[in-house]
Amino acid sequence: MHALDFLDARDKSTIGADVVARWARELPVGADVIEIACGGGYPVSRVLVDSGVNLWAIDASPTLLEQFRLRFPNVPTRCSLALESDYFGKEFGAAVAIGLLFLLEEAGQLAFLRRVSEILLPGGRFLFTAPIQTGVWRDTCTGQECRSLGRVRYVQTLEDAGFCLIGTHVDEGQNNYYDVQKISGSGEARHSKPTPDRAPKMRVPS
Ligand SMILES: C[S@@+](CC[C@H](N)C(=O)[O-])C[C@H]1O[C@@H](n2cnc3c(N)ncnc32)[C@H](O)[C@@H]1O
Repeated sequence: MHALDFLDARDKSTIGADVVARWARELPVGADVIEIACGGGYPVSRVLVDSGVNLWAIDASPTLLEQFRLRFPNVPTRCSLALESDYFGKEFGAAVAIGLLFLLEEAGQLAFLRRVSEILLPGGRFLFTAPIQTGVWRDTCTGQECRSLGRVRYVQTLEDAGFCLIGTHVDEGQNNYYDVQKISGSGEARHSKPTPDRAPKMRVPS
């Protein structure tokens, strides 16, 4: 599927908007947020901008980013791969990656979770989508092979990278969201005192 066909379909969809809006409301006012794989920006970036956070964004697709820039001319952007971006040389209060992780190879997924920890400030939040179950499938739109390493592996990798899982959510399209918080730098995680666990705000599929 061409990027513009994806854009057309996604523009008409509100899937995920409510989950992201609720998450954004929990961020400190004026938080610096990086959206990784922003696509054309509807509906997720629209929700983030409307929530009042300071948004930065990256995506690998020049076509989608061109549309994004027309829609959000005040949001700083970079056209770059998630594993290669310099992330503006900044540290952020929060990061979002919707529909990205499972597009990466296994090693890339693990490296990406560690990279996000590096660009977040202590206490920073990270919301991303990935299935609970392990599996490999082909994306119906792009034909691209996707893979899920599953909740156990993701949570172990996140904890090793200094994150704590504080909730999971499921949207109206049955996409699963991991809602995590950075509690320490990579490698310090097992020695630091964890923040109290919060109950998941939505049901956790088995
Ligand atoms: C399924 S779309 C999701 C877009 C957007 N987050 C949304 O919710 O509509 C996946 C996006 O990831 C981008 N992408 C794919 N591989 C990437 C990579 N390695 N680094 C950065 N962006 C990537 C694509 O260009 C596309 O915009």
